[in-house]
Amino acid sequence: MLNFEFHNPTRIIFGKDRLARMDSHVPADATVLITYGGGSAIRSGLIDKVKVILGNRKVYEFGGIEPNPRYETLMKAVEVVRKEKIDFIIAVGGGSVIDGTKFITLAAYYEGDTRDLLKHGFRPITSEIVGKVVPLGTVLTLPATGSEMNSGAVISYGDGKFPVMSPLTFPKFSILDPTITYTLPKIQVANGIIDTFVHITEQYLTYPVNGIVQDRLAEGLLLTLIEIAEATMAEPENYDARANLVWSATLALNGLIGAGVPQDWATHMIGHELTVKFGIDHGQTLAIVLPALLDVRREQKRAKLLQYAERIWKIESDHEDEKIYLAIQKTREFFESLGVKTRLSEHGVTENQIADVVEQLKAHGMVALSETQDLTPEISQKILEKAM
Ligand code: NZQ
Ligand code: ZN
Repeated sequence: MLNFEFHNPTRIIFGKDRLARMDSHVPADATVLITYGGGSAIRSGLIDKVKVILGNRKVYEFGGIEPNPRYETLMKAVEVVRKEKIDFIIAVGGGSVIDGTKFITLAAYYEGDTRDLLKHGFRPITSEIVGKVVPLGTVLTLPATGSEMNSGAVISYGDGKFPVMSPLTFPKFSILDPTITYTLPKIQVANGIIDTFVHITEQYLTYPVNGIVQDRLAEGLLLTLIEIAEATMAEPENYDARANLVWSATLALNGLIGAGVPQDWATHMIGHELTVKFGIDHGQTLAIVLPALLDVRREQKRAKLLQYAERIWKIESDHEDEKIYLAIQKTREFFESLGVKTRLSEHGVTENQIADVVEQLKAHGMVALSETQDLTPEISQKILEKAM
């Protein structure tokens, strides 16, 4: 097992009818900004409920944070925070609203050019860099990203999606009420299952370091997803199935299963470029890239792929290559069973557009990806060709 430090200060408030618990965790004299997305949280009545719970606190609202939140939109919220002297922000939404709100809290009192905050990549932004930040809490409406219990965000600017990491942006609390997710369109539930699945494989399908605990945690989460996927897709109001999806999504990316093991975020980094270039939803880009990446990287990942084949898909065969082939096939079939396409061509992308994607990867510095940092643009090109 590799060395690690693990710290996660986010309070999780999980279950039905827990929204009112927010009152205990937002300072009574706070001036609050509620952030939300394109309107689903208004239509469901969730924003009104949050306002009632906040009672006599002074409350402002900022809506319109789009999927793959954009820098320009978020800077409009930063203006509100500065002007109204906001001292607590509650993000009501999925990964985009929560990520966007994390950026707002970092940018609020930053004295330099706030675009600089997009240049740190995976290096954490500390209080020495930004000074004061505004604390945030979240009400999660879409189980997928894990943003509700981690310190990362992904912000879109120009033709790129930029990771922003900071220990200052762990939410103070996150309310996870599975019933709030009942209004999700089917495709967003599928996106969430796939995003969660791929977060797990990116911390599991690397090379062995005898992280038995981490492997078993990851396998438990993967098996849970496979067990509940059909039910939570077919019966959105099946509480137990949905509750298990919500908790899996949070645990997949709150730092726990990735502590002490190698990580490979190449599927995400290549996927981000597909979102930027073709507008494909985050989760769906992963369903396209992962099977192709596992195929191209089967030698580097051989030992873990065999473990994955045996323990997750129960594949028995005397031939290692066949086991790996079948495990990748099962992964693709699982994504397709959720109604998601796993080929670039099915999204109307043509072979001659691949070179542009590879150029984007280079322009964004994504030239040494994977757990061994030897995944070059040429290998990304092979992966994208396999994904056609
Ligand atoms: O905007 P509204 O009207 O609210 O509609 C949203 C949006 O259109 C809708 N929605 C959300 N909750 C709903 C609902 N509709 C009905 N009922 C509800 N309860 O769903 C749509 C998608 O929302 P979005 O927040 O964009 O989805 P998701 O949670 O998948 O977030 C994707 C973003 O997270 C980033 C991605 O790159 C992408 O920008 N990621 C963040 C990560 C992190 N912070 O750790 C890691 C992830 O890998 C990911 O990269
Ligand atoms: Zn993701």
